[in-house]
Amino acid sequence: MRDGRITITQFIIEEQRRIEGATGDFTSLLNDVVTACKEISNLVNHGALIDVLGQAGTENVQGEDQKKLDVISNDVFLKTNEWSGHLAAMASEEMEEIYPIPRQYPRGKYLLTFDPLDGSSNIDVNVSVGTIFSILRCKGACQDPGAGDFLQAGTEQICAGYALYGPSTMMVLTTGNGVNGFTLDQNIGEFILTHPNLTIPAETREFAINTSNMRFWEPPVKRYVDECLSGTTGDRDKDFNMRWVASMVAEVHRILTRGGIFLYPMDEKMKASGGTGKLRLMYEANPMSFIVEQAGGMSSTGRERIMELQPSELHQRVPVILGSKQEVERVVEYHKEHDTNAAA
Ligand code: AHG
Ligand code: MN
Ligand code: MN
Repeated sequence: MRDGRITITQFIIEEQRRIEGATGDFTSLLNDVVTACKEISNLVNHGALIDVLGQAGTENVQGEDQKKLDVISNDVFLKTNEWSGHLAAMASEEMEEIYPIPRQYPRGKYLLTFDPLDGSSNIDVNVSVGTIFSILRCKGACQDPGAGDFLQAGTEQICAGYALYGPSTMMVLTTGNGVNGFTLDQNIGEFILTHPNLTIPAETREFAINTSNMRFWEPPVKRYVDECLSGTTGDRDKDFNMRWVASMVAEVHRILTRGGIFLYPMDEKMKASGGTGKLRLMYEANPMSFIVEQAGGMSSTGRERIMELQPSELHQRVPVILGSKQEVERVVEYHKEHDTNAAA
């Protein structure tokens, strides 16, 4: 651009040029994802003016009440990404089944998964929400894709990103070569590179967890949070601050900006109802883990690296503990000690 600013399109094209044999398919796919996020941003910004707030009156496959904007954003993603010929299928938090590309369009070699509106309980109170997405290669029969084609470990992702609809709209992306952040310039309708090479500070004094679940937490999580709360009065050499936005995109973005740890751990209530976690592996945990690891952070269930989990079903849920490396390592260590003692 005239003033030396780099648009997201230029950034993606230049990054792809470095990859031998790149055909431009991926660049074009990513451009459509960016367009979908711009459209959702516009809808979120207009809110009540265009009657998109409130309940849809339906439930998704996870039994959660859908907001109007959950449904609309899901549709925006499908319609913006179905026609280009780069995708074989899509899968979304809001749809029970996968969405093979309709027959009137060509099918391509990529798979797209997404959480169209993350943190949607915040939408009616005008607090930050976001979109999370992940791109996988279709390794099976791309002309006839099935849910099984999506069941790839997080380490297989070729791109992950999120859009944050906050005071400004941002897009944060990784293709496995670091993490970069872009801010939407509403005047020209383009995302501009504003946060190159985002890295998570190793040290932190901020934690994020929904403490209303405290009585159900497992001992290692209780131990970690108790220590944070005791700060310098206890075993830690610093005092901690706490934040909980209830929008994973906003929490991860804060952690990428100034460090911290985010926990949505396994707990006794989930166990009792046969649950395996709160957050969804394919639409939330894997893409965010890819971004966090690429920014020098760490992401774990407490017991395993999230990106190495072999997914067993599309809507699988997992415990998530991610953020500054030293803190996540500490929580993982507490799980190890606890499990070893329990086994003895
Ligand atoms: P979604 O709005 O896509 O269902 O996701 C909400 C998720 C996540 O973004 C957030 O961290 C967490 O659920 C909030 O859970 P609580 O309501 O239990 O705080
Ligand atoms: Mn979500
Ligand atoms: Mn959602």
